[in-house]
Amino acid sequence: MVTKLLLAATAMAICRLMVTVGLPLAPAELLRLGVDGNISVDASDMEAAAVDFGGTSRAEPLAVLHPASTEDVVKLVKAANGKGFTVSARGHGHSINGQAQAENGVVIEMSVRRREAEKRTSPPRPRVNERERYVDVWGGELWIEVLRAALEYGLAPKSWTDYLYLSVGGTLSNAGISGQAFNHGPQITNVHQLDVVTGRGELMTCSDKENQELFHAVLGGLGQFGIITRARIALEPAPHRVRWIRALYSNFSEFTEDQEYLISLHGEAASKKFDYVEGFVIVEEGLINNWRSSFFFSPRGHPLNISSLAPDGGVLYCLEIAKNYLQSSADTVDQEIEALMKKLNFIAGSIFSTDLSYVDFLDRVHKAELKLRSKGLWDVPHPWLNLFVPKSRIADFDRVVFKGILGNKSSGPILIYPMNRKKFDDQMSLVTPEEDIFYLVALLRSALKGGDELPTLAYLNNQNSQILEFCYGAHINIKHYLPHYGTRHEWMDHFGEKWIQFHKMKMEYDPQHVLATGQRIFPPLFRDGQVSSS
Ligand SMILES: Cc1cc2nc3c(=O)[nH]c(=O)nc-3n(C[C@H](O)[C@H](O)[C@H](O)COP(=O)(O)OP(=O)(O)OC[C@H]3O[C@@H](n4cnc5c(N)ncnc54)[C@H](O)[C@@H]3O)c2cc1C
Ligand SMILES: *[C@@H]1O[C@H](CO)[C@@H](O)[C@H](O)[C@H]1NC(C)=O
Ligand SMILES: *[C@@H]1O[C@H](CO)[C@@H](O)[C@H](O)[C@H]1NC(C)=O
Ligand SMILES: *[C@@H]1O[C@H](CO)[C@@H](O)[C@H](O)[C@H]1NC(C)=O
Ligand SMILES: *[C@@H]1O[C@H](CO)[C@@H](O)[C@H](O)[C@H]1NC(C)=O
Repeated sequence: MVTKLLLAATAMAICRLMVTVGLPLAPAELLRLGVDGNISVDASDMEAAAVDFGGTSRAEPLAVLHPASTEDVVKLVKAANGKGFTVSARGHGHSINGQAQAENGVVIEMSVRRREAEKRTSPPRPRVNERERYVDVWGGELWIEVLRAALEYGLAPKSWTDYLYLSVGGTLSNAGISGQAFNHGPQITNVHQLDVVTGRGELMTCSDKENQELFHAVLGGLGQFGIITRARIALEPAPHRVRWIRALYSNFSEFTEDQEYLISLHGEAASKKFDYVEGFVIVEEGLINNWRSSFFFSPRGHPLNISSLAPDGGVLYCLEIAKNYLQSSADTVDQEIEALMKKLNFIAGSIFSTDLSYVDFLDRVHKAELKLRSKGLWDVPHPWLNLFVPKSRIADFDRVVFKGILGNKSSGPILIYPMNRKKFDDQMSLVTPEEDIFYLVALLRSALKGGDELPTLAYLNNQNSQILEFCYGAHINIKHYLPHYGTRHEWMDHFGEKWIQFHKMKMEYDPQHVLATGQRIFPPLFRDGQVSSS
């Protein structure tokens, strides 16, 4: 009886697809999987899965799965192994180079639009354990929803990304870094446990104590070993408010010395350090360069005069720091901040400060997104380049890249801030430079689409190549964050000593190279359901 119903439902689904969509059918096997969610070849689903935030790469999938449960993911990955197609989890599609795409495979749309999903079968909602201070979340949950769920209990995650419309599974497959990483470590070191559907289609729970090799491989593992369907994320009591401060420097070595001083305070009492330390480079003014921050420097309507503040070289550096506090300690926060600021060497009188709720602080980039969207400047090509630069060479990087190659033009925000390597876990797949302190340099630039405000993609790509050539030529041991390479040799170089383990874990957990082929690390072994000869 049940089987008959299922068959009837499947037949109806096929008819619906053929009649209403009229696109070529996905392999018939897919439609017989009987998932709790749905498998779609809808034009809008297919289009969304074919592109990403980078806006420059495209790959057409066979179909898109909207899973309603972990079981759906298991079924699909098992079928992929049996029938010979690839599968990529797609968090929120915020990759730059097609990392979540699946050419001729199935894309699993992991992210959940919570408000729309109320009435449908949908993945499990976040579950907070108040006493033990953690939250269990679906792998496709966006961080903004994790925050909302935790705040209902007065709790919040500890380590963040600057932008919250990213998925938990997507950031944990990379690292998840922001101004808290110096203190709490990246997001991958603030996870207690994961449920992972491996590339073989087996559901495994893993942690520091259970299946720990898999746990470490998956964190920073670029989606190569399994699909994260649940993550247990550490929480802390949520601060109420944030004092958000910026101060300017024209002298790069004074800027970095202060940043490094501030991140050296991580071990001290909470009152004796900042909770967030970042910074950015200012080579020109304008919305596209400072979209993360534009309101800041004109509190009284005075735009920054860069040439008067930075006469030599024309580059300014902005330290960005924040102090969290509880309503009950609002009286003492000013004194604590004053004591900390006294030790710093910013340009006298260049402090800009604002006070806002914790949520508004964490969600700050989304406001900038809305502003850019309203001007048609969000859906443009983003040739972003994220590099970890060892502390010993950051001054060379400044001299040649910020003061040279960029040619006084930024075309987007350029972040620069240091982190403590000891807050990272070397057993995990993420690779960083070997020095105790390394910087994230994030060139978050936008290319021309229609108007004439922005440089062309070719121009920015060429600049990115020049930057990389300089680093390699000068033997600066950078590591790419959110890496993207074309050849096996480059990937081996990237992972260095970790390659052997990375490869071994791939053979163990995804021997048929089913998962996340958009990363271009292990080429698909299947082509059109056949084992490829290459
Ligand atoms: C505006 C913006 C701001 C950003 N800010 C930061 C920041 O402050 N800090 C930072 O660290 N990063 C930041 N990022 C980068 C971000 O971390 C990456 O884009 C990351 O990939 C998360 O995006 P996503 O959830 O959309 O993942 P996707 O791009 O969809 O996926 C990324 C990779 O992970 C895999 N994957 C996705 N979900 C899962 C899962 N559940 N299980 C296993 N593998 C999975 C995919 O197959 C793909 O290979 C930012 C990106 C943008 C666009
Ligand atoms: C499939 O699921 C997605 C997301 O849950 C939803 O938007 C879509 O309407 C569903 N399609 C069908 C045919 O049920
Ligand atoms: C920058 O500051 C350092 C340390 O105070 C100093 O030695 C150096 O001369 C300064 N550089 C410039 C260009 O002023
Ligand atoms: C900026 O400063 C420079 C140098 O001090 C000065 O010549 C210029 O007029 C100033 N520009 C504005 C807009 O105030
Ligand atoms: C950038 O501007 C500064 C001062 O305005 C100038 O000295 C410098 O040569 C310029 N750099 C480049 C690469 O054009």
